[in-house]
Amino acid sequence: MRTKTNGELRLSNVGEKVTLVGWCSKKRNLGGLIFIDLRDRYGITQLIVNPDNKNYDLASEVKSEYVLKVVGTVVERSNKNKNIPTGEIEVEVEEFEVLNTAALPPLLIQDETDALDETRMRYRYLDLRRAPMQKNMLLRHKACMIIRNYFDRLNFIEVETPILGKSTPEGARDFLVPSRVHPGSFYALPQSPQIYKQLLMVSGLDRYFQIVKCFRDEDLRADRQLEFTQVDLEMSFIDEEDIYQVIEGLLKEIWKEILDIDVPTPFVRMPYRTAMDLYGSDKPDTRFEMLLQNVSSWAHTIPFVVFESALSEGGVVKAIVAKDAASKYSRKEIDRLTLLAKKYHAKGLAWVKYENNELSGSIAKFIDEKAKASLVNSLGLEANDLVLFVADSLDNANTALGALRLTIANEMNLIDNNKFNFLWVVDWPLFEYSEEEGRYVAAHHPFTSPKNGHEELLLTDPAKAMAKAYDIVLNGYELGGGSIRIHNQDIQAKMFEAIGLSEEEVNLKFSYFIDALKYGTPPHGGLAIGLDRLVMLLTYNNNLREVIAFPKAASAKCLMSDAPTPVENKQLNELKIKVE
Ligand code: AMO
Ligand code: AMP
Repeated sequence: MRTKTNGELRLSNVGEKVTLVGWCSKKRNLGGLIFIDLRDRYGITQLIVNPDNKNYDLASEVKSEYVLKVVGTVVERSNKNKNIPTGEIEVEVEEFEVLNTAALPPLLIQDETDALDETRMRYRYLDLRRAPMQKNMLLRHKACMIIRNYFDRLNFIEVETPILGKSTPEGARDFLVPSRVHPGSFYALPQSPQIYKQLLMVSGLDRYFQIVKCFRDEDLRADRQLEFTQVDLEMSFIDEEDIYQVIEGLLKEIWKEILDIDVPTPFVRMPYRTAMDLYGSDKPDTRFEMLLQNVSSWAHTIPFVVFESALSEGGVVKAIVAKDAASKYSRKEIDRLTLLAKKYHAKGLAWVKYENNELSGSIAKFIDEKAKASLVNSLGLEANDLVLFVADSLDNANTALGALRLTIANEMNLIDNNKFNFLWVVDWPLFEYSEEEGRYVAAHHPFTSPKNGHEELLLTDPAKAMAKAYDIVLNGYELGGGSIRIHNQDIQAKMFEAIGLSEEEVNLKFSYFIDALKYGTPPHGGLAIGLDRLVMLLTYNNNLREVIAFPKAASAKCLMSDAPTPVENKQLNELKIKVE
């Protein structure tokens, strides 16, 4: 239909006759001349229709988002628009055709939109007409092409794994699909292809990858969707170093090709313990400092009962120093921070401000001259610093201060958004204790290998067992995670026992997998990167929705199609399902 797109005409094309198609992005009538911005995926071209054109009346009727086809001649523009690549030319229309009309769109199709998120998702096909969204889709495509080419070059093969399968233990709730043929039985949608990819290693495929949809029935957040995409991989006869190399190479290539940024490798490796103790997070944002400091021994010296009782119960007192923040945070603002700390299970938030060589604030009255000097010295306090303290169990103190650290950094504009700080978080515990379930659960997933020499601890002292697991973290986001797997049937059985799975449950859920391990399973390991998160960070966004064509809203609904919806009784009857 067209001879050119709306993004490609330049001064060098002046004099050419072209056929263009696209949507009417804007129409103006200036002194009898009609100007139309014709838009398609590739850009915008300005059309000009003269009053003597035989289709002048038709052109004057055109409204926003009408679909047009024009034939015309490229001419040089007198007032050039430096903001768009086609801004030096315009097309003088000779033939003008309306291919389709359009109803008044419920949101403006332009780069900046003030449309509500609900409107954008309800009319997603229109939201996707906007250039920034098209750019995101294109970039996502480009990232996938780079990923596929990279893995292909490294001898990986992409293998598709089933969507209708059996429950996989990634720790979230499964989505279930009822079987019509086997009433009362259900498939589970994969939380990840974890078991399949390990079985592909048993099969000898050696190097697998897949760009794959995963499904987890969990509460949605800005960086969490019900269905999301993983760049999933698995390799045989490797150790952690091989994974680090492959992933660092991949991310380096993506950042170079898409953002033209040279990411330095190797990435920093930070033990999980260090991440928690210094950043209060297992996915530390290292673009700014404000590290957590343990001030327990100082806290012992002041007569503040909250500190005393926390310490006597085996807890800690930890602090962060918000530099130059004292004047910015009023009492009311600090109350707001206190609520945030409480959301993370801290019992309270103590604070002091350092101004004119004096301490003021909630615990200043307990701090004498000597304690003041020691605090100022050990924390390196300067005028206008704000110190926040949490006295609690180590875990609570860390996570609460970790959350405050991020909030304050955002509010104080401490984060350089052009920085990309990749790091590996390593040396993870194999288990974490679930208060809710009253048992140890796998910290990563139950196929993760213990560190060498830690096999015995699985049943004797699980809290001390460490894992061959690693997360790749970028700017405070968990971009991906993986592990070296258990390839020995006995250790796998011990692992299931350690997390309290009975032999019966194991047989019911994973017998086929345990069985497979005995047929010559190679040592293997892998990792999965969240593609949506990767693209979100590559596009400087902070919500996955911006990089997913048809996302779910926080309510777990698709606002466009209204899914999920009730179904007809006929369908339920076929499945032998009754809804209460
Ligand atoms: P994990 O559960 O850590 O590991 O998931 C890997 C990565 O997938 C992304 N991700 C999500 N993205 C959006 N929405 C979600 N709900 C969501 N959940 C996870 C994250 C995360 O880092 N099978 C293992 C990998 C392995 O061991 O090889 C797994 O799935 O970016
Ligand atoms: P109170 O004596 O309860 O009024 O508390 C005095 C100050 O200590 C207030 O600023 C509280 O927010 C703070 N506080 C209470 N519990 C804790 C805690 N566990 N850690 C740090 N500060 C706390």
